[in-house]
Amino acid sequence: MLIYRTELNNMRLDKYLAHATGLSRKEVKRLLYRKEITVNSTVIKDAAYKVVSTDEVSFNQQIIGAPQHRYLMLNKPQGYVCSNDDPTHPTVAGLLDTEIRANELHIAGRLDVDTTGLVLVTTDGQWLHKITSPNHKRAKRYLVETVDPISVDTIKLFAEGVQLKGEKHLTKPAILEIIETHIAYLTLTEGKYHQVKRMFASTGNKVLELHRDRIGEISLDENLALGEYRVLTEAEISSIQ
Ligand code: URA
Repeated sequence: MLIYRTELNNMRLDKYLAHATGLSRKEVKRLLYRKEITVNSTVIKDAAYKVVSTDEVSFNQQIIGAPQHRYLMLNKPQGYVCSNDDPTHPTVAGLLDTEIRANELHIAGRLDVDTTGLVLVTTDGQWLHKITSPNHKRAKRYLVETVDPISVDTIKLFAEGVQLKGEKHLTKPAILEIIETHIAYLTLTEGKYHQVKRMFASTGNKVLELHRDRIGEISLDENLALGEYRVLTEAEISSIQ
């Protein structure tokens, strides 16, 4: 059950150590150089040594267990971009602790710079694929506030699919739940570029505020303020099959 949560897969020794301990690559190099790392009781200095699942990696006679994948949910604030690096805007990755940032992070289901809400961050590429791959049709729910009142006809229109400019196919059936005149939940099972904004634009309306509160079975934790994050529970991780 936990096998796929282990990050280990013929991983380089320096990467193994950095991910398992949170040490920087430079600090890890120093340990290797000083012959402080053993693999199966033999000193290994080669940073490129490929660790396999049966290897026992130790420092000071203490076994260093295989690094585990990270799974986080984050409440993205406005003004942040969903990337690890950006020349003009602060990034979602920058909101994370440096120890977590040392990992190779993937952001699942990117949001526009002005959109807030649920973003999933992981080191597990396979798990990420299950969220982002169109084959899995993972539902994503958005709370939308619009400039003009949302017409009741929009429910049927979105359920049947709309033709967006530059797209070959109609949008997949989407569920629109009108909460108030200008506020609705929209649930999509695909993620075209600026999809929510473009769908409302196709009805002559404009999105004023956009917030994602659910991806699949994972709901944004209401205890998380904007910019905060927490580790996903086992149940949340396993809900993405
Ligand atoms: N649709 C949009 O238009 N923007 C987002 O950030 C997400 C979905």
